[in-house]
Amino acid sequence: MAGGFLRLEGGGESLVFLIPDVGAPVLAYWGPDLGGAEAFGALSRLDDRAVPHGGLDDGEALNWLPEAGHGFTGHPALIARRGESELVSQMAVRAVDADGASAAVTLRDDLAGIEVVLTLALDAATGVLTSRAEARNLGPGPLALDWLAAGAFASPHAELMLFDGRWAREFAPVRQTLVTGLMVKENRTGRTSHHAPPFLVAGEPGFGEARGEAFGLHLAWSGDHRMFAERLRDGRIQLQAGELLRPGEIVLAEGEAYATPALYLARSAAGLNGLSDRLHPFVRDTILGGRLKGKTRPVHYNTWEAVYFDHDVARLQGLADLAAGVGIERFVLDDGWFLGRDDDTTSLGDWRVDPVKYPHGLKPLIDHVLGLGMEFGLWVEPEMANAESELIRAHPDWVLGIEGRRQPLGRRQYVLDLTRPEVSDAIFAQIDALLAEHPIAYLKWDMNRDLTHAVSGGRAAVHRQTLAVYALIDRLRAAHPGVEIESCASGGGRADYEILRRTDRIWTSDCNDPIERQSIQRAFSIFFPPEVMGAHVGPEAAHTTGRVTSLQMRAFTAFFGHMGVEADLTGFTPGRRAELREAIALHKAWRGVLHAGRTVRLEHPDPGLMAHAAMAEGRALVCAAQVETPRTAGLAPLRIAGLDADATYSLRQLNLPRRPPASMKHVPAMARGETLSASGAMLAHAGAPLPLLRAGEIAVLLLERQDA
Ligand code: GLA
Repeated sequence: MAGGFLRLEGGGESLVFLIPDVGAPVLAYWGPDLGGAEAFGALSRLDDRAVPHGGLDDGEALNWLPEAGHGFTGHPALIARRGESELVSQMAVRAVDADGASAAVTLRDDLAGIEVVLTLALDAATGVLTSRAEARNLGPGPLALDWLAAGAFASPHAELMLFDGRWAREFAPVRQTLVTGLMVKENRTGRTSHHAPPFLVAGEPGFGEARGEAFGLHLAWSGDHRMFAERLRDGRIQLQAGELLRPGEIVLAEGEAYATPALYLARSAAGLNGLSDRLHPFVRDTILGGRLKGKTRPVHYNTWEAVYFDHDVARLQGLADLAAGVGIERFVLDDGWFLGRDDDTTSLGDWRVDPVKYPHGLKPLIDHVLGLGMEFGLWVEPEMANAESELIRAHPDWVLGIEGRRQPLGRRQYVLDLTRPEVSDAIFAQIDALLAEHPIAYLKWDMNRDLTHAVSGGRAAVHRQTLAVYALIDRLRAAHPGVEIESCASGGGRADYEILRRTDRIWTSDCNDPIERQSIQRAFSIFFPPEVMGAHVGPEAAHTTGRVTSLQMRAFTAFFGHMGVEADLTGFTPGRRAELREAIALHKAWRGVLHAGRTVRLEHPDPGLMAHAAMAEGRALVCAAQVETPRTAGLAPLRIAGLDADATYSLRQLNLPRRPPASMKHVPAMARGETLSASGAMLAHAGAPLPLLRAGEIAVLLLERQDA
């Protein structure tokens, strides 16, 4: 096998791996399509690196699976133990099974008794690379696995965008330049996490929305993970990602194998927008399997911030009337509907309708909702049980943990041990019955606490629990294929491509404050397309931040995602409801563009102006949201990238101010309702004139190609 090449082509990209005599394939080229007859021999000569003094004679290969046994002194991609000792592996490529777009590379070390199969696939349409590693124990005896990366990528760039966050403030990008050593993002919460979501971008210094080469990485896994960037002592940089395995969690018997989650990688020469241009279609076609394509995303009403636990059928029916009146299409009954659930201290696990709040069951409410022409959705949190619940009283041993220890409580609840079939079966039976008995179109699947003591049968179990959660969702989906599911974990704590394979929407954040939402949604949109981004119009004073914002700001921030309303509509004046109805009507009129097009994040010199666009079929909806007071008296025009340079566009403001704005002596024509016309080139370079926006104001522009 040695001395060969492995070439993958797709999405206008070429990847060329060298197959060395020893060790895993070395990525020698990732760039624009090299064309048919490239002389790959040149690449091995280009990869002929000088070996510095002070190290090993043959240098250190930074390949797709660097091994300590081959002399790699950075963090290896494989750490395993047999008996007391760390495994010293020296693998070599034994087989390459490739078809031009994908490959399975088999590496083996018979002495160490281990085989690793790397699977690589470059998506033909988008150029997104999927990488996985699978390690098999060839024996003798058991093999304990401590770390297996899904791939090790040699990054040409040291500027990193990592993602920080917390409850109600997810997806906070942080830039750092890797100067030395390791920069690690690690998650031990047993869910994708708020603080360390498994996304990373490495790019040229100062890479921006539309500029600079950038590589985006995402580990698709909803359990624990590690993602790191390491500057090696010779200056090279490696990026690795894999599942964080607890000691003893994966012990492979002879013949047994462990496969990593999928690592997705994309390259763009045009900054973060270029990454989204690859990742959004990839998510639509491959992760979602095309199932949302052409499927209208109904506008939601969610009861949570309207009533919390205070469920009363007549009141909910009244809210449903008001919701239908503003144009809502799906009514989602959030937490509080089941047995004794009057606050968040009890009842999770008892998925039966509360007979006090709903003396005649859910039917009267559901009939009312359906009668108004809306679908009905329901909130559940199937992985959990409160200490105070019939389920736990009957089965105190059904929680994850170890004998003699009790999980610390999180929101007064325990995590059920879904790795035990009887537990999964019991939860399945309850949810299955609900779905069988009621016309439920939608489940909001929540998960509201970190895993601790994630042990089952005496062994660490985050890995098994994560797979069991996937299996439970898959089983319910198979039994009820028409039901859509939303992934929620205290807001956006479970947003990743593996959960998205089996869900249809992600609850982006519990924060409905549109000022916060502008930045949360902006970062979320790098990796996720807008139709899966749950975005709600909240109350005037946001419940999470206390900030008061205009309905315009709230409505046109939610407008750009999978829109919904989550507020007590009885508190809205008729005028406000009319305004909301208008915004929802516009969303419905334009959701074909909003939910199927390109997302282009725009840049503006004022740091308080956040702008982005959704573009499809010669149309663009542009959002300019002023989240802070402008730094200067005037506001520079908004340069709109991503349009067809030669085409002529009409442009007008969709959300015209009701009264002449007081912030300007001269109001630009567009803000007075006039339609302008300009070429894509002009809009990209001269820019569109914006009204002077004060903090908390928002303008939405509609552009339409005239010659289309
Ligand atoms: C979590 C969710 C919220 C809401 C509550 C209900 O916090 O993120 O949207 O559903 O649970 O308890």
